[in-house]
Amino acid sequence: MHIPLDLAKTLLLSNQVVAVPTETVYGLAASLYSETAISQIFQLKKRPLNNPLIIHTATLAEVKAFVTSLPPHFEQLADAFWPGPLTLILPVDQKIHSQVRAELPTAAFRIPKHTTMLELLQQTGPLVAPSANLSGRPSSTSPAHIENDFGVDFPVLDGGPCARGVESTILIFLNEWRIARLGAISAEELATILPYLPKITSGTKQPLCPGQMFKHYAPQARLHVQGDLNRASLILGFSDRKYNAPSLLLGASTNPCEVAQNLYSILRMLDLNSVEEAWIDMDFPHTELWATIRERILRAAN
Ligand code: TXA
Ligand code: MG
Repeated sequence: MHIPLDLAKTLLLSNQVVAVPTETVYGLAASLYSETAISQIFQLKKRPLNNPLIIHTATLAEVKAFVTSLPPHFEQLADAFWPGPLTLILPVDQKIHSQVRAELPTAAFRIPKHTTMLELLQQTGPLVAPSANLSGRPSSTSPAHIENDFGVDFPVLDGGPCARGVESTILIFLNEWRIARLGAISAEELATILPYLPKITSGTKQPLCPGQMFKHYAPQARLHVQGDLNRASLILGFSDRKYNAPSLLLGASTNPCEVAQNLYSILRMLDLNSVEEAWIDMDFPHTELWATIRERILRAAN
């Protein structure tokens, strides 16, 4: 159910959960100060309790108010990428409810770049918001995806389709900044601000982000990332290539932004059409935003 901004504000300030738009993916938001609504998020998503949430704020001052010490290059990163699709894991004191942090001594923060969301945040104060999908499933990049997962009566603040289409990049500081989750901002972009290319630690056995341990982004359909596309029954491919089988188009092979934008919609389309298996054209670069796209596809296929 689409709701206007003032109703979203009223619901959030009375312990309720509302789906909200961001430039990356839609979030399932609760006030940082509502333990009831925060518990509700975990129940709605069927999210493991040891998977902490990202705190979204409208301003840098709000972030700093919670943080006990600022790592090197914090100001430069915030200056360059906030508002925007970067999440920073920072040390915090116990003021932040333990369920938000999953008992960790740190919390994740980001200032999103979406006009409606920023307007809402100015009126509500900090909101926690995981991606608005059932745990394990592809994230939601449009209000229709939220209705699919949570029903047509679920309150959604409509902010249109998400411009980025993949989640924020998460950085954590351990002697140097490391990428704990690949996302909309590439390692190469981060290296224009940091004096080094941050190492990617996602996908390792001991992930720095608890969320990386869990199944992710997966449709019901079986996805093949290897094998002969000539023998495929359905291909997820690129609009500027010719295939010998029916295909769903992710976008042009020259345009990773377009592919990222469409990725979750296309994965969700497989389930809407009860597709049992599909083959993905994995012939694309390993660098920049393509690295994120590749990681999401590999996880979805796992
Ligand atoms: O783009 C995004 O980041 C979206 C939009 C809605 O802002 N949000 C999002 O939230 O992707 P979620 O909950 O789906 O993913 C948050 C990730 C999880 O993998 C979680 O484990 C990690 O952030 N995380 C949160 N707090 C953390 C902490 N203190 N230390 C390490 N990882 C943390
Ligand atoms: Mg998520």
